[in-house]
Amino acid sequence: MSTQPRIAVVPGSYDPITRGHLDIVRRARGLADRVIVAVGDNTTKNYLFTQAERVRLAQASVADLAGVSAEPLSGLLVDFAAERGANVIVKGLRFAGDFDYELQMAHLNSHLRPGIETVFLPAGRQFGTISSSLLRTIAHNGGDISEFVTPEVLEAVRERVARR
Ligand code: PNS
Repeated sequence: MSTQPRIAVVPGSYDPITRGHLDIVRRARGLADRVIVAVGDNTTKNYLFTQAERVRLAQASVADLAGVSAEPLSGLLVDFAAERGANVIVKGLRFAGDFDYELQMAHLNSHLRPGIETVFLPAGRQFGTISSSLLRTIAHNGGDISEFVTPEVLEAVRERVARR
């Protein structure tokens, strides 16, 4: 049996990171020795936070999780994973719509780097169907999102929304 540590990458935009994301990260850590939260920058998206800010918020939100770190992702996800010795990409699935997109990504990533597996975890029941974009909408309209994010993220969202 291999003695190599199992390293999982959990990629996303994390604009901002939510308790739904953190549930997936925690469960990925149950399957791997180390988990790297990879904070991507999709140029087609209009983000509330810069990539550096999203990385900082992800780092603050995973600070109490042993074996979990957060880093900016640039270039291809599979190259990022290979450079860090990661052998698995973990993605959370909330509903059928997520699956169509994620299956396409998994197939392309597997074509690019056949050795790296994608594993799908069903989103947790409690915060399973929330999304960063819905939370941004609630916050923009003065609603309370404190249940769904860490205190660091809550403060950053409040500050950002107040400035707009
Ligand atoms: O939360 P998101 O917006 O679905 O996350 C998207 C992300 C960052 C995971 C995705 O855009 C990504 O993997 N970007 C890196 C570039 C890449 O490898 N794309 C897939 C090639 S098919």
